[in-house]
Amino acid sequence: MSLSRLRPVRWFSLAVAVIAAHMHAAATDSPREHLSLDANWKFHLGDDLGIGFGRTQSGVGSPEATRLEFNDLAWRTINLPHDWANELPYDKTANFSGGYIPIGTSFPKNSIGWYRRTLTLPATDAGKRFRLQFDGAMHDATVWFNGWVVKRHEGGYEQFSEDITDLVNLDGPNIITVRVDATYGEGWWYEGAGLYRHVWLDKTAPVAIAPDGIFVYSKFKDNKPADQVEVVSETTVLNSLPTAQKATVRLEIINPDGGTVAKTEQAVALLGSDRSEVKASLVFMKPDLWSPESPKLYHLITTVEANGKVVSRLKTEFGIRTLAFDKDQGFLLNGQRYEIQGTCNHEVHAGVGAAIPDALQYFRVARLKECGANAYRTAHNPPAPELLEACDRLGMIVMDECRLLGSDEGNLHKWESLIRRDRNHPSVVIWNTCNEEPLKAQAAAGRVALSMQTLAKKLDPTRPVTAAANIGNVYSGLMSTLEVRGWNYNEGAAVAYHAAHPEQPNVGTETASYLSTRGVYEHDKDKGYVSSYGPFGYGLDQINKTWWSQVANLPWFAGSFVWCGFDYRGEPHPYRWPNISSAFGILDTCGFPKDEFYYYKAWWTKAPVLHLLPHWNWAGKEGQELLVQALSNCEQVELFLNGQSLGKQKMEPNGRLSWKVKYAPGTLSAKGYIGDKLVAETKVETTGLASAVQLTTDRARIAADGADLSIITVAVIDDQRRVVPVAENKITFTLSGTGKIIGVGNGDPSSHEPDTYISTPTMKSAASAGWRWKLAPGLAKAAAAPEYASDFDDSNWATIRADTNAPAFKKSDTIIMRTHINLTKADLASDVVQVSFGGIPVKAEDAAGEIPDTGWLFVNQQCVGETTSKLTDSFDCKSQLHVGNNVIVWAFNNLRQERRFSADNKGMNPKVSVMLVNNPVAPVWSRSVFNGLAQIIVQSTGEVGEIKLTASAEGLQPATTLIRTQK
Ligand code: GAL
Repeated sequence: MSLSRLRPVRWFSLAVAVIAAHMHAAATDSPREHLSLDANWKFHLGDDLGIGFGRTQSGVGSPEATRLEFNDLAWRTINLPHDWANELPYDKTANFSGGYIPIGTSFPKNSIGWYRRTLTLPATDAGKRFRLQFDGAMHDATVWFNGWVVKRHEGGYEQFSEDITDLVNLDGPNIITVRVDATYGEGWWYEGAGLYRHVWLDKTAPVAIAPDGIFVYSKFKDNKPADQVEVVSETTVLNSLPTAQKATVRLEIINPDGGTVAKTEQAVALLGSDRSEVKASLVFMKPDLWSPESPKLYHLITTVEANGKVVSRLKTEFGIRTLAFDKDQGFLLNGQRYEIQGTCNHEVHAGVGAAIPDALQYFRVARLKECGANAYRTAHNPPAPELLEACDRLGMIVMDECRLLGSDEGNLHKWESLIRRDRNHPSVVIWNTCNEEPLKAQAAAGRVALSMQTLAKKLDPTRPVTAAANIGNVYSGLMSTLEVRGWNYNEGAAVAYHAAHPEQPNVGTETASYLSTRGVYEHDKDKGYVSSYGPFGYGLDQINKTWWSQVANLPWFAGSFVWCGFDYRGEPHPYRWPNISSAFGILDTCGFPKDEFYYYKAWWTKAPVLHLLPHWNWAGKEGQELLVQALSNCEQVELFLNGQSLGKQKMEPNGRLSWKVKYAPGTLSAKGYIGDKLVAETKVETTGLASAVQLTTDRARIAADGADLSIITVAVIDDQRRVVPVAENKITFTLSGTGKIIGVGNGDPSSHEPDTYISTPTMKSAASAGWRWKLAPGLAKAAAAPEYASDFDDSNWATIRADTNAPAFKKSDTIIMRTHINLTKADLASDVVQVSFGGIPVKAEDAAGEIPDTGWLFVNQQCVGETTSKLTDSFDCKSQLHVGNNVIVWAFNNLRQERRFSADNKGMNPKVSVMLVNNPVAPVWSRSVFNGLAQIIVQSTGEVGEIKLTASAEGLQPATTLIRTQK
């Protein structure tokens, strides 16, 4: 579908179309395959599986969990993105910055997560190259592929990848194991934990476009949009073959309507095991320019041919526009001054924590656009790629940020990968080296920042570089070396600074930090709520009106980014526990607007806006004076209580209006005028009692792809269907059909209710009554051997002890062992029943033992398995077991050295048991509404059909909504 034919009347119809377009692009990118590995991971939380590395990369000595045969039956099955921090209960003793989530040095068991996933590849893949790509892991990751250590990555926000071709097995399953350590994070906010972004497998031919090997940008004469545009394409072609190769790179540009506007091709000679860069220019006329108001997108199709065959093809979305940060005019987009009306944001949302599904990125960007925001700062780290896609497609310019300032090799590598990954996004207009680095004014910081800037310029000549500096009129360190001076707060000092350094462009990187809790109009320390009348404590320059009035009037100042768009977990301020999330947002953690949303909407958008605060449910305050405010861009606003005028007031530009009103229940209303013309009306009413639940979906049709979402507003309403602004009812949800609930939230910064409900397989083991054994020379797998019979008398055999130092049996001995296990009817009703020699190490003491060599296992006389593996192993044998006494016999040849019985899991262990595993039971989801509202996020399971969601609460009429999942 062509984007240009879409009319973005409602954001969600656009969002469906753009996501669908994206999926289509991915599917047709063959012969390079970019395959999602998000589905079907097994997950285990705990620090009980060891680390193992430090000995060999090849996995000798690696933890058992890195081996294919490891039994992960009792691990949870999950899909990515996944944030295990989002699943933990709040803990008053945990760090407040991270939102009191019990992760870190005091909580080792919660700080390590293990992920396992199998991967089967067809034999037809022979000769291809394979690369595993992680879009991010919080925080330090070790990746094993088929037991080999292939990556150790430190840092929670960068993409990392590795070529695994040498290790790939095309004859059978491969196993990916990832250990993620979230003990030490980086931020002073909630960062999540685990594989919270996508994981991919790239399959390519040996001659192919390199990872992040395409750079496309547009050029106009004198950087001014004109009829003729030049599109520059740089392609890095990789030759993984040892011999020299010849290839042709073909380029084609497709316009937003789907038509080809330019084509070219170029030959490239590749040395063996080398890479080459091909630079080409394509010129065409009358381009459609990209801007937040009109996000027109082009595609560059890059095709590589070698030996007469297409070996690599990639479709890259890009936009045509000019940008400049100018010393006199601030920011210029497409040659015109463009005020940056931005918000800073952490990537975290109610319900899902840091694991934001793609559709939620679109939802969030769309929400910000509704208040007129046209810019997004990815505070304080590289974003998820899908956030940038959403900004490209919905129209939002981006300040793209590196986590840390540093010119050491490691940091420069991270900086370079960020730029290489993100430089094709038209939304990205500036690179940000860092945030509030304490040493920013030092000469060394200046040199470090300059090294980062120099590298950025080499990788991307089109965008400038800045730093978010929380300092006033100081010109030293990075302020004196970076092209664009970034201002975190301190706007008051900008005028003097600009006068002293008139050649340097200026941008507000962060401002405001205005605190408010949605629907709350009194500070409440005990509850951790901040009044929406604000400001709290922070001095006058933090009031939204103050900074914006100042910045809006400085033509040379490029605009700024408010701290912040959405509330986020962690950094509770000014109160601590029970407050677990911040209150700086224009929107709460769910994306419900706070009153301040309308301040920005009034001054950042053109259509008339009129909003009144507070709500009008103040039973018990009759006759008391309340502060009423109007947020509006009308020239005059007249306020009424129950139809009586309380006076008309004139609005100052970028201002807000206030009245003192004696409370009486009823209707508070307002009329807004431009000149004499009535252009806006609004009202807030005293509602009746809560009578029903209401569900409103953002989209009633979603893709049946296992990823798409419907984001549903849950409201408690009165009998006239008005949201009751003080309601706090607890809502319980039931869902059936082709979807599942993945998160709930309500924007209450002090709610300790779970955002997600998880269910884990339950497991118990029935231990054996003790083993007896004897040497059995000449033993073979013979079902008729009398020792295998259930009624064989083994009472004179030796018993096995788990302590001894005495050698138990020697190399080449053959041994028979027997035990009895008693099982009940309930045991046998378990979903899975296995005789296990180990695996399932939920607790260290459960780890049973190992099967050393070739052997056979008999359960009630029937052979249930053979093993040639020395690994822990398990055998499904539900059908061979019965209620009461069961006899288990194990016979094996000890092919290796002398062995002892011991309890330490290294030798023979008598704790072999029957494992009883039950599949997870679906949890019951619930959430209270906060000041009338809550949110529930429902995801497609992948099948076509219908989702039925019902919400009920005691004493209220329930609500049901239907969502279609479609291909
Ligand atoms: C800034 C900082 C942000 C956030 C904000 C809260 O100084 O850059 O990350 O902490 O303060 O006011």
